[in-house]
Amino acid sequence: MSAILPIRIAGDPVLRTPAKKVRKIDGSIQRLIDDMIATMHGAHGVGLAAPQVGVSLRVVVIETPDDGLLELINPEIVKHSGERRLWEGCLSVPGYQAEINRSRQVTVKALNREGLEIRLKAVDTLLAQALEHEIDHTKGVLYIDYLTSPDELIPVRPSIDDHDAEMPEAVLV
Ligand code: CO
Repeated sequence: MSAILPIRIAGDPVLRTPAKKVRKIDGSIQRLIDDMIATMHGAHGVGLAAPQVGVSLRVVVIETPDDGLLELINPEIVKHSGERRLWEGCLSVPGYQAEINRSRQVTVKALNREGLEIRLKAVDTLLAQALEHEIDHTKGVLYIDYLTSPDELIPVRPSIDDHDAEMPEAVLV
């Protein structure tokens, strides 16, 4: 039975602490992953990193329509290239979004839930964006760190009726 955990909000020191490597994939890690998936689904997010639920470990979950559900332990970016501008939001920075630079191509290696090494290559996709965003979380980095001015942080319109067609819906990761 998995649980929806409270999501930590910017200002919480756990979001700024580089997370520790997972040394052993035991029952507590399995439970953490299950709870993170439930929490991500509950918040309608595309990804979630363990520090966002107050656990300073390098564990990430991501789910996209094209790539399905990914569970990544000790993920690291081994290669990235290119640059593109993307709208982004974060479950730990509620109510805001901003346009930032992300890589076009991202190659990641990680362990899966069974402890087997996996490699992922994402090119110009939501997955590429989510991988960079979530791996940043495991290093204590937030997307707002890439902004040069607080003015670049745009409030998300609270009402659907009031939706500004000019502004794309930012990805929540
Ligand atoms: Co985030």
